[in-house]
Amino acid sequence: MDFDVKDLKLAKEGKNRIQWAGRDMPVLKGIREEFSKSRALKGLTLGACLHVTSETANLMITLKEGGANVSLCASNPLSTQDDVAASLVDDYGIPVFAIKGEDNDTYYKHIYNVLDTKPQISMDDGADVVSSIHSKRKELMENMLGGTEETTTGVIRLKSMEAKKVLGYPIIAVNDAQTKHLFDNRYGTGQSTIDGILRATNILLAGKRFVVIGYGWCGKGVAMRAKGMGASVIVLEIDPLRALEAKMDGFEVMKNTEAAKIGDVFLSVTGDKHVIGEPILKNCKDKTIVANSGHFDIEIDLDYLKENSASIRTVRPMVEEYKMKDGRRIYVLAEGRLVNLSSAEGHPASVMDMSFANQSLSTEYIYKNSKDLEKKVYKVPEEIDKRIAKIKLETMGVNIDKLTPEQEEYLNSWEIGT
Ligand code: ADE
Repeated sequence: MDFDVKDLKLAKEGKNRIQWAGRDMPVLKGIREEFSKSRALKGLTLGACLHVTSETANLMITLKEGGANVSLCASNPLSTQDDVAASLVDDYGIPVFAIKGEDNDTYYKHIYNVLDTKPQISMDDGADVVSSIHSKRKELMENMLGGTEETTTGVIRLKSMEAKKVLGYPIIAVNDAQTKHLFDNRYGTGQSTIDGILRATNILLAGKRFVVIGYGWCGKGVAMRAKGMGASVIVLEIDPLRALEAKMDGFEVMKNTEAAKIGDVFLSVTGDKHVIGEPILKNCKDKTIVANSGHFDIEIDLDYLKENSASIRTVRPMVEEYKMKDGRRIYVLAEGRLVNLSSAEGHPASVMDMSFANQSLSTEYIYKNSKDLEKKVYKVPEEIDKRIAKIKLETMGVNIDKLTPEQEEYLNSWEIGT
């Protein structure tokens, strides 16, 4: 079996962590048990490019249990858990190509290693596999039954491919399932981002001015949790509706140059380029901390920092100090990469349970229905979303009421008024 991981000797620790995450993934466990009986994915070759974490390991094991030949590479150079990668290879016989801290060339070499297995379904977190197939490995296209996409950034890229009529095979936007973004993006990013910032810096959040840039589901989650830790939260948002929502949720909303003068910590979750750029970096206070939880490392303008700093040094793991020519110190966390996955462990298993249940069932759906799918970006079928919500509630021991026949009738009638 071909693979490329840091050190197979790390497998024992990795296995413990995979099992620990598995404890908190009951929905995925149920699907795994079902897959092992139905072998619904028998004969399928699947190439995954995801954050190589203990939660992802549980997904890979589930897909393999369904009969799929799976291989895995990293969707970010800094998010790989090397012990988990080792265990997937050594204990579970799953080919993994990922090493934490890999350079850009190795990152792409690992994507091509996965593509060498000639996948029929791609599973992406950020659309790098889809984009590599469309640009560098076009000969694989005819083999493709479909793909899934985990994250907002990837879905935006794929919808733009669909709009430009260049998308070569159908994709299910797992990110857009309600049981994904309402929980993973909000509570997962909310908690793991704060976790990443605290593990990197060990600062006290209480009393700090914490600036969240972007008020999508991820930004909402981070703002909520930063507030819960006692920070005064400021939101920067370019969309008037979201800005209004942030204001009515009780946060300060202002322009970047105003926030620059007072913020202590800046966190971007927009998916766009240089949102922590010159207007903030030129005007921010001495000892400002900047971090990113968006998918790509483009949100902080590192070139501006490099050009305008007198020196750069690492002051703690995952913390770089840029001493600016004017004497101010700016601290960049995790090289501007996803702080929650680079300096913490990403979202907790309990929330990845639903995201990866969506991945598993969407894969089964594509495998069964590929003939009927067009070269479009599809939503996760509603019955999958509802089923996951129902099972998750059951596994949490939560029971909910049903409509009475009378209530059902009322909702379905238009004649009954006052
Ligand atoms: N994305 C965010 N958190 C994650 C995790 N724990 N595993 C895989 N992908 C993630």
